[in-house]
Amino acid sequence: MAVYEKIFAAISAAVLVLLLIAVGYAAIGLGINLPSHREVIPVKPGQNLASAVLETPPFNTPGLRQIAKNKYEAVVIASAWSFLPSEFDLPAGAEVTFRVTSADVTHGFFIPGTRVNTMVIPGQISVITYRFDKPGTYLLICHEYCGLLHHTMAGKVVVK
Ligand code: CUA
Repeated sequence: MAVYEKIFAAISAAVLVLLLIAVGYAAIGLGINLPSHREVIPVKPGQNLASAVLETPPFNTPGLRQIAKNKYEAVVIASAWSFLPSEFDLPAGAEVTFRVTSADVTHGFFIPGTRVNTMVIPGQISVITYRFDKPGTYLLICHEYCGLLHHTMAGKVVVK
């Protein structure tokens, strides 16, 4: 093995190790994880997912509610081809935690111009928090192909 080969092999190995350490530190040290699969919808034997979703709190009462000053929780059910609810009215500066699940197939939950961007996987709960500082109307779209009317699956966030 030529000396350059050894140097390049050592650099490649070092880069891999550094990246693994960085990913490990982000996931464990900083607690940065994908916004899904931390909680699941319990499905009883013989029960279908859609009825399990409708029975499981907080998805038995979907909607937007205030939980503290300037803090809101939005509980959303995605199903072909709509979000329930699909419109959210908020004051500027509101911090919203979206808890989203799907009652059928994989959907997306994406608000362009914000960090809100997650898959919504059947039976799993995606949780993502964002503060809407700028007033305006934000589009909410499904960005995972979910069937015939995927392109119509949308909603909005109105910040005043
Ligand atoms: Cu739901 Cu695409």
